[in-house]
Amino acid sequence: MKEIRIQGGKGLFGEIDIQGAKNSILPVLAATILCGGECVIHNCPNLSDVDTSVRILRNLGCSCSVEGNTVTVNSRDINCCEIPDDLMREMRSSIVFLGAILARCGKAVLSSPGGCELGPRPIDLHLSSLKRMGVSIKEEHGMLSCTCESRIKGETINLCFPSVGATENIILAAATADGITTINNAAKEPEISDLADFLNSAGARIYGAGSDTIVIHGVEKLHGTNHSIIPDRIVAATYMAAAVMNGGEIKLKNVMPSNMVSLLWAFNECGCKTEVNCRSITVKSNGELKRIPTVRSLVYPGFPTDAGPILISMLSISKGTSVFVENIFESRYKYIDELKRFGAKIKTEGKVAVIEGVRKLSAANVRCTDLRGGAALVLAGLVAEGETKISEIHHIERGYDDIVGTLSSVGAIISQE
Ligand code: UD1
Repeated sequence: MKEIRIQGGKGLFGEIDIQGAKNSILPVLAATILCGGECVIHNCPNLSDVDTSVRILRNLGCSCSVEGNTVTVNSRDINCCEIPDDLMREMRSSIVFLGAILARCGKAVLSSPGGCELGPRPIDLHLSSLKRMGVSIKEEHGMLSCTCESRIKGETINLCFPSVGATENIILAAATADGITTINNAAKEPEISDLADFLNSAGARIYGAGSDTIVIHGVEKLHGTNHSIIPDRIVAATYMAAAVMNGGEIKLKNVMPSNMVSLLWAFNECGCKTEVNCRSITVKSNGELKRIPTVRSLVYPGFPTDAGPILISMLSISKGTSVFVENIFESRYKYIDELKRFGAKIKTEGKVAVIEGVRKLSAANVRCTDLRGGAALVLAGLVAEGETKISEIHHIERGYDDIVGTLSSVGAIISQE
């Protein structure tokens, strides 16, 4: 069993190059299915979720090669429209392959993704939207069998909630559909714009990504292309938190600060000093952080749910009491019991967490319960006195490209056994 060990209490100083965004690369890899030619994707992070996506693509008949941070996918010879159950279970977000497989093959078979560490994650919005676009869907024995007699039909879709995954699936289904698709109340996350940029560079006609109305003019077919993935704003926030919790100074390179406005707000509220340039952020503090009375997770451009655990870890050593309200996922607080093992004083009830800042944390043996919760434990371990051991780190490997090497490079005493 792999584990991370940390000797806490070291100030962190230096520069970190921020990896490409997990939530961009996954839909972009799904989108390569539509292209029917060679797609070269740069700035691809080395993550277990990327490995799983590559295995899904190979299983469909695509040729894929991974060299450093470049992935090349050629979907010319796709010969299968099914995602095996074990790959679906490994990565819940493989549901984003549905729209692309359907559009390319006219058929898709996959197992229902079911629940995950963050609570139930229904896909009703994905399915009802695809149905409106002419797809017939049968759900039997946990399997989804989707077919489309002819080309998918362009439609107007009014989402009752701006789901990121549903918006992506509709875009993927609509890019080569017959006619125009309009998505009202679409998700506005920067990763949606990255997917649209990728598809447009492959010949799609997608307008308005990043706003709440996206219009997609279906084209006959797409072609191969080159694309570079945008930086990961949640990973950037994680390393910023590592710096300020330990009274250090870190310059993040290859970031897009314009995508991080609500995150930068939170760091400034905590009393950290930030210097923002076009592609870099320098953050520093003397380790004395202030509370934030209330923070609510919201859809973009609001405070991201994925950064909730990172902020809560930070607030656990801030002066005073803070409140965090989780509005996106039902049970996102599983990691908090682990955070309390460091001596953090946090109470949760439903969607609310009340964090009473303590002066210091002490080392603990803890277990990751999910990806960002795992990152929160690493942050606590970095500041805690003594040696922390963190197990079940496969959760962290889903979203962080070499977190141990990166933190070591700025002075953390951290290793992986
Ligand atoms: C994506 C991100 C995830 C992030 C989330 C919210 C990826 C790979 N993952 O997840 O990191 O935390 O956006 O920013 O990009 N919902 C329904 N029915 C649906 C779809 C969603 O009820 O058909 C609900 C979900 O249960 C959840 C909320 O809507 O409560 C948000 O989900 P959604 O925006 O779809 O998130 P994901 O695409 O799963």
